[in-house]
Amino acid sequence: MPSVIVTRRDGETVDVPFTPGASLMQTLCEGGIDEILALCGGVCSCGTCHVYIDQSPVELPPVGADEDVVLEGSSHRTDRSRLACQIRLSPEMDGLRLTVAPGDL
Ligand code: FES
Repeated sequence: MPSVIVTRRDGETVDVPFTPGASLMQTLCEGGIDEILALCGGVCSCGTCHVYIDQSPVELPPVGADEDVVLEGSSHRTDRSRLACQIRLSPEMDGLRLTVAPGDL
């Protein structure tokens, strides 16, 4: 099963398996990464699924307009910032590395 490699806020690094077609947010929540609050349920409005993409085996789709607006509301935005709910995982993303961003709440 493909997986993403997640660095949690406490510095621990864990492998989280994913089902291709699932969103990255859904994968992280189901994988026990409880820092990902996903308060809006994945409709790109809360910003609580903010992650930093450290390394991706494939080029990710660009940040969407709505995603950009939500990320602008974070004081922790960097050029690696993405909302996990806006990334749909494909088999080629096996090995993608990310870090959970600090919370804004
Ligand atoms: S889950 Fe709310 S913006 Fe991603």
